[in-house]
Amino acid sequence: MRQRILDQLPSDHPWRERIQVHEVLDSTNSYAKELARQGAAEGTVVIAGHQTAGRGRLGRSFHSPKNTGLYFSLILRPDCPADQLMHLTCAAAVAACDAVERACGLRPGIKWINDLTLGGKKLGGILTELSFGNNGNVAYAVIGIGINCHPETLPEELQGLACSLSDFTDPVDIARLASELLLALEEMNRQLLTDRVNIMERYRQNCVTLGRQVRVISPQGTETGIAQQVNDDGSLRVLFEKGQQKDVNSGEVSVRGLWDYI
Ligand code: BTN
Repeated sequence: MRQRILDQLPSDHPWRERIQVHEVLDSTNSYAKELARQGAAEGTVVIAGHQTAGRGRLGRSFHSPKNTGLYFSLILRPDCPADQLMHLTCAAAVAACDAVERACGLRPGIKWINDLTLGGKKLGGILTELSFGNNGNVAYAVIGIGINCHPETLPEELQGLACSLSDFTDPVDIARLASELLLALEEMNRQLLTDRVNIMERYRQNCVTLGRQVRVISPQGTETGIAQQVNDDGSLRVLFEKGQQKDVNSGEVSVRGLWDYI
């Protein structure tokens, strides 16, 4: 797999020598975080054939069976305060859409804030984790991306909710998808701190949540409203049924369609 990824990457790609491929890991994000703690350089990439404890946002698990998906984590070291990186998950989502489109001609949608979708179902997701240094700046960021590529037997709770690229197109070469992701993320990383407005505009164009009736689910309960806008910090502006408008934050809530997943 590693060699097939390298064969499809330009010879001057700055992260070429930092790609690790493992047959199995508990979670590529957990492993990448450990490497980052030990000082691994920006551009270190960890890929696994499967994960035994793949993780998602808000403490959820990410189903990661053998050789059916791309399980990918990238270490970045943007030396800036966290408030300049509120759009990181959004930026990674746009890069992931670009990579899927280049690898197989299909452009996924983005369900706020971090899910990739196709045909109204979940194709994959993004888990971004930050660590801070003593000066308060970000010491490292790990961007984890999982994309379902081939069909599999889904656990009961995912049936009807999840899909894979092969449901929509010819069998996908996971190595090709990984190399497109490396290209798209490297491009994103160069624009990350200078081009936030443009990145967020592209996010909005891909966001399938906007304009929809949604259920906003938080530890305090569930409220219904209309998703009106994604702000530049990635928060979602919702007009609730009782008339009040509120910006909801991805660290606290999840959003579902009124009847369906989106
Ligand atoms: C979500 O659905 O909330 C996000 C899912 C993110 C899954 C990816 S798979 C690679 C990386 N390693 C993990 O443990 N999680 C991310």
